[in-house]
Amino acid sequence: MIRRLLASDLEAITGIGFEAWPRRDFQFFLNHGSSYNIGLWDGKVLVGFAMGLLVRGELDIVAVAVKESFRQKGLGCRLMHAYLLDERVESASLEVKEENVAAIRLYLKLGFSIAGRRKKYYEGVKDALVMSLSGRVGKLPEWCADTITSAPCESTT
Ligand SMILES: CC(C)(COP(=O)(O)OP(=O)(O)OC[C@H]1O[C@@H](n2cnc3c(N)ncnc32)[C@H](O)[C@@H]1OP(=O)(O)O)[C@@H](O)C(=O)NCCC(=O)NCCS
Repeated sequence: MIRRLLASDLEAITGIGFEAWPRRDFQFFLNHGSSYNIGLWDGKVLVGFAMGLLVRGELDIVAVAVKESFRQKGLGCRLMHAYLLDERVESASLEVKEENVAAIRLYLKLGFSIAGRRKKYYEGVKDALVMSLSGRVGKLPEWCADTITSAPCESTT
């Protein structure tokens, strides 16, 4: 199931293992008036999320992650496609670490292109690529269209 994230989902989000962010950053974006955040759930377990700020049709994506044991099953693709499909989203952009091949390939497959580079953006050392999607997202790619039920089961206790 994919649904909007609520402030009460903070614990589930911190359980994903996205270590780039401290808890207070998630809290900030969960409570921000312009935020647009969705989560992908396997039963009661949050297995992925996408977070961003949506202002006048422009979506600034600030964090995307899929829980490690659920990766490379097409779930990131499903999640991001659903995220971008929202009728309010007219264009989208994000920064991604240049060495993050998995994320860059995912965004390229969804129609993003590389729009620029921010030097030493991460930890004052590593460059970021700026990627953007101008216009509406295309159709859900066939290769990830029926993957959502193939996620492994996890204990929800
Ligand atoms: C990036 C991320 C969200 C992808 O999620 P995912 O569920 O594994 O992605 P999918 O299974 O939908 O894969 C979609 C495409 O992404 C690319 N991809 C995903 N994992 C990859 C990997 N380990 N190596 C290379 N390409 C990869 C592939 O192009 C893949 O399609 P393909 O298998 O047909 O080639 C996930 O790896 C993640 O959470 N990473 C850690 C957090 C992160 O880096 N977030 C991005 C910050 S900008």
